[in-house]
Amino acid sequence: MNPTAISVKNLDLYYGEKQALKNIHVDIDERSVTALIGPSGCGKSTFLRTLNRMNDLIPNVRIEGQILIKDTDIYSDEVDVEMLRKRVGMVFQAPNPFPKSIYENVAYGPRIHGLNDKKKLDEIVERSLRGAALWDEVKDRLKDRATGLSGGQQQRLCIARALAVEPDILLMDEPTSALDPISTLKVEELVQELKKNYTIVIVTHNMQQAARISDKTAFFLNGDLIEYNDTDKLFSNPDHQQTEEYITGRFG
Ligand SMILES: Nc1ncnc2c1ncn2[C@@H]1O[C@H](COP(=O)(O)OP(=O)(O)OP(=O)(O)O)[C@@H](O)[C@H]1O
Ligand SMILES: [Mg+2]
Repeated sequence: MNPTAISVKNLDLYYGEKQALKNIHVDIDERSVTALIGPSGCGKSTFLRTLNRMNDLIPNVRIEGQILIKDTDIYSDEVDVEMLRKRVGMVFQAPNPFPKSIYENVAYGPRIHGLNDKKKLDEIVERSLRGAALWDEVKDRLKDRATGLSGGQQQRLCIARALAVEPDILLMDEPTSALDPISTLKVEELVQELKKNYTIVIVTHNMQQAARISDKTAFFLNGDLIEYNDTDKLFSNPDHQQTEEYITGRFG
């Protein structure tokens, strides 16, 4: 069994009066893939964003409870949120490269963290693009604009951009929902590769995808975490009837 990377205890989240997460408890394993599933509006993205404090950017959000990463409560006052987001990177649903070159997209994070050494940046760009399984496709056109890449390549570029600052944890919110089947497969293969070195938490609406790529799955419904289980178990013999109903397509 892997050690715990993220420990969530008694987590409640409110948007104004509305409670979007209800008393969530979860321990997420290091160097593994954890899938978050559940119907639209159940709180998957909200939960994912609590893990690197992206909800801080939304007005009227109130969060109670604890999220421990390496024994530090990420909501405590002494936490440097910039450093937290460096350690806990994020990839979004629609690929969102900056309107810059491929090279500059990947070098951006290290640069804002103060790195200017050209040789070191070159190394990071190559390593990150290799890590995102994109290097061979772009190595001869690093100066081209990133927006000229295909959607699938852009998404892998966004993964490379996240890897460039050497995170421990990668959060992915429906990273393949805008991609064609072949690009989706590439990202899925990449996730399998990345979990050797990173802890990955991924939201997906695609249950086959969750079953294929994750080690554990969390099923959310109306802000409650209904079931958190080994993926094989959750999809073959879930402990809860609501999970059974959801995975067999009876609602959601
Ligand atoms: N910025 C916000 N302000 C107010 N309410 C919000 C905000 N973001 C989300 N919510 C509400 O919180 C609940 C959970 O939303 P969330 O986006 O986390 O769901 P989700 O499971 O990711 O859904 P989807 O599968 O459609 O992406 C919903 O009722 C939503 O309307
Ligand atoms: Mg969402």
